[in-house]
Amino acid sequence: MHDHPPLDTTTAPDDPSELFAHWYRAALDTVSDEPTAVALATVGAGGRPAARMVLLKGFDEAGFVFYTNFASRKGAELDANPHAALLFWWPPLLRQVRIEGRVTRVDATEADAYFASRPRGSQIGAWASPQSEPLADRSELEARVAAQSARHGEREVPRPPFWGGYRLAPDAFEFWQGRPDRLHDRVHYRHADGVWHRVRLAP
Ligand SMILES: Cc1cc2nc3c(=O)[nH]c(=O)nc-3n(C[C@H](O)[C@H](O)[C@H](O)COP(=O)(O)O)c2cc1C
Repeated sequence: MHDHPPLDTTTAPDDPSELFAHWYRAALDTVSDEPTAVALATVGAGGRPAARMVLLKGFDEAGFVFYTNFASRKGAELDANPHAALLFWWPPLLRQVRIEGRVTRVDATEADAYFASRPRGSQIGAWASPQSEPLADRSELEARVAAQSARHGEREVPRPPFWGGYRLAPDAFEFWQGRPDRLHDRVHYRHADGVWHRVRLAP
């Protein structure tokens, strides 16, 4: 294993968003396949966790944004229990980032602007796919796409009312930097009493 720059609580920034921005930039520059892909864990009925990948569409001081179908399994779980976790893994950098917090829905104006920026095929697909519902076969999906294409014609495709974004406002982060001999660096941040506290964890 190559050595990578160490991660240390004494030199890590006070604000984990600053460190995330730095690592995310490095991932965008280095990871060739889907650097924005992130595992999203939600909690369902009975406290059972479920995870799936989504694409990160933005982040700022307020949190981490992804888009989906509100009626999907993840949407239903998030609406019932807003606690969620995100997990990034960037192999070429040997870096993992864990983020935990609560989600809220992105406001309509912001979601409309993002939906409008998507390729037309994705916009039609959002209308056509009853995400997480059973389908008889692939032709059912193709028929639904054809019907939505015909319905919208050449007109601008509006955002479906059942589709939009969630923003996860973080209250915990863990940055993991792979190091030789499994002596990895881990820095955990926790938000409490209005400030971020950070601590090194054993690998
Ligand atoms: C790399 C990757 C990125 C994905 N990005 C998204 C996304 O941004 N939004 C989304 O709804 N599904 C995305 N998916 C599909 C989800 O993983 C999942 O199959 C789908 O959202 C249904 O999940 P659910 O039934 O738990 O709601 C992505 C899958 C992969 C493999």
